[in-house]
Amino acid sequence: MSAVAEQTQLLADRITALEESSTLAMTKKARELAALGHKVISLSVGEPDFKTPAHICEAGKQAIDDGFHGYSPVAGFPDLRQAIADKLRRDNNIDWQPENIVVSTGAKHSLANAIQVLVNPGDEVIIFAPYWVSYSEMVKLAEGKAVIVDGAFENDFKVIPEQLEAAITPRTKVIMYASPNNPTGSVYSEAELRALGAVLEKHEDVFVLADEIYEYINFTGNGNFSMGSIPALKERVITVNGVAKGFAMTGWRIGFIGAAKWITQGVEKLQGQVTSGTCSIAQKAAVAAFTGTLEPTMEMAKAYQRRRDLVVKLLKDIPGFKVNVPQGAFYAFPDVSYYFGKSDGENTINNSDDFSLWLLNNSYVSTVAGSGFGAPDCIRISTAAADEKLEEAVARIKKAVETLK
Ligand SMILES: Cc1ncc(COP(=O)(O)O)c(C=O)c1O
Repeated sequence: MSAVAEQTQLLADRITALEESSTLAMTKKARELAALGHKVISLSVGEPDFKTPAHICEAGKQAIDDGFHGYSPVAGFPDLRQAIADKLRRDNNIDWQPENIVVSTGAKHSLANAIQVLVNPGDEVIIFAPYWVSYSEMVKLAEGKAVIVDGAFENDFKVIPEQLEAAITPRTKVIMYASPNNPTGSVYSEAELRALGAVLEKHEDVFVLADEIYEYINFTGNGNFSMGSIPALKERVITVNGVAKGFAMTGWRIGFIGAAKWITQGVEKLQGQVTSGTCSIAQKAAVAAFTGTLEPTMEMAKAYQRRRDLVVKLLKDIPGFKVNVPQGAFYAFPDVSYYFGKSDGENTINNSDDFSLWLLNNSYVSTVAGSGFGAPDCIRISTAAADEKLEEAVARIKKAVETLK
């Protein structure tokens, strides 16, 4: 056994049991091929291709000049917590005070914190699938049991109340979902969330982790509905959001939860021992994001919608691809199972992992297999790229799959 393999065995079991993030793994492979000189089109990362709006950058620069260099309060600066409380009232009809807000290092951190403070070993967490790759692993880290409930392709990948009711057991502690969704782009309507909420009203010990990170990238024309705005559920809904997607601020690492005070106190306690308060400069920039104009955000959303239209039209033209029409976020999520069992003469495609890797090696387009998202028939294609890039990528995919028989 090699020294490296031996050392790997020394890792704690909780880390050995974790899956590597499939989105990051694919991005790494694409980089390796690009380094060899191949013209790779990378559509595997979930990252806006826009710059952070100028007024937000200015606030960050100002924070540096003003000397905001010190440690920040564990739960976030008071002005940011106030700005977030105001934003939740303005956009989401959720009436929380600053004490109900905790700012963390990205929405990913906020989600992981919430799970850590709520889930005991053996508790069940219902995850609506397809789901963002990290959800199940966060539950695993908390020694909880992920219970996956599949939204059907025919229902735009959305879970219906009967499915939720059937999945709830006396051990259910939390349900979690994202709307708009990564990877499917599906958006739960107000009526759909109210119907799911009606089920939860009957189960008073079940909490909801509502991930609204793609809130502003919503093409329905009806805006975003927050389950946390339903009065009967308010105390049990943890609303998670941040600046990464809507404000093109992935690297600034600001996320937050809005939740009942005993939950935010729990998260503050955890965060106080693990990370402390997040970056002081980024927090000042986030104040500008939440209090400033949403015009650049709306402009970006328009561009994502145009690209959605383009990519869906082109993908529908590929034989065998089954395509839903994403209502938000910046992904397409075609079902490619038609190609399972087919071969290019050398390689047989058995599943979406094979398909995604084969595409990268044969068309130099990087996508992500649906398996990590709990949807093994699909692949995820990010549409956060320039129109020409998207056109070329889909043309390459189309040409490549013609060789599969
Ligand atoms: C559904 C979902 N939730 C949360 C996050 C994490 O956001 P952040 O970059 O703020 O940690 C992502 C990022 O890809 C996401 O897709």
